[in-house]
Amino acid sequence: MEKNSDTMGISWPFVMTSFLLAGSLRGLETNFTSGCHWDHVYSLRCTSAGITNLQELQKSPSWPRAPRFLKTMKHINLSNNRISSFHLNIFYKFSSLETLNISNNYISMISINYEQEGKDVTLVSLKSLVIDRNRLTFVPKGLGKLTSLQTLQLSANSILRIQRDDFANCTQLQNLDLRDNRIHKIDPDAFRDLRNLQILRLSNNALVSITPLVFLYSHVLRADIDLSYNRWAYK
Ligand SMILES: *[C@@H]1O[C@H](CO)[C@@H](O)[C@H](O)[C@H]1NC(C)=O
Ligand SMILES: *[C@@H]1O[C@H](CO)[C@@H](O)[C@H](O)[C@H]1NC(C)=O
Ligand SMILES: *[C@@H]1O[C@H](CO)[C@@H](O)[C@H](O)[C@H]1NC(C)=O
Ligand SMILES: *[C@@H]1O[C@H](CO)[C@@H](O)[C@H](O)[C@H]1NC(C)=O
Repeated sequence: MEKNSDTMGISWPFVMTSFLLAGSLRGLETNFTSGCHWDHVYSLRCTSAGITNLQELQKSPSWPRAPRFLKTMKHINLSNNRISSFHLNIFYKFSSLETLNISNNYISMISINYEQEGKDVTLVSLKSLVIDRNRLTFVPKGLGKLTSLQTLQLSANSILRIQRDDFANCTQLQNLDLRDNRIHKIDPDAFRDLRNLQILRLSNNALVSITPLVFLYSHVLRADIDLSYNRWAYK
């Protein structure tokens, strides 16, 4: 008991200080990131900036435009905003873009299939797409057009099922994170093209049974697969 009250005595002021600190840091950050920050070469960071609309951001003075930046830009970080939907073609001029982090937004729709001036344009260099903690109920369509994609993070969304063509042509994909969704069904052929798959995270979903066919593909069998915390029905 005595030990307990001691702990309380120490922890309360600590908790209070942490709150105050966190509060002022948060305030500071809001002001600090009211636009975007970028190093004028490789990376653009617009995190926690209250962005709701990418089209508006694109028109703002903080958005890079000069062709030399578009060609060198490798990392864009738009995490912790309030973006709800967008078309990936907003980034198509960033021809060297390797990582795009749009985690922790309100995204329920992303379109990847796109055309620009009559021809298909794609983010040929994009290796890592991070969409954790959003509101997607399905896997974005057209991922196969991102021909360099190695890492795809879709954890903590509300994805319900994995359909046959969701990962079609994603031959370079190595890490696929689908943790913390509501997936209850996986098409047995959905992973057929993932010949380079190394890590598959499916924990904390609503899987009751997984069609054994899903794992008949040897490349899937070789991967490190996490299926914990589902609702397996043992028959
Ligand atoms: C943010 O900036 C505005 C205007 O510059 C200022 O009025 C406000 O107090 C600042 N907020 C914080 C938390 O510093
Ligand atoms: C993106 O920004 C968040 C928050 O500032 C940070 O935690 C994360 O490391 C950044 N990621 C990249 C790739 O810059
Ligand atoms: C993406 O951003 C989130 C939130 O800011 C951060 O926690 C995470 O580490 C970032 N992930 C990557 C791969 O940059
Ligand atoms: C996969 O790529 C092939 C060849 O480019 C194409 O014909 C097919 O439509 C693509 N599949 C999907 C689902 O995008």
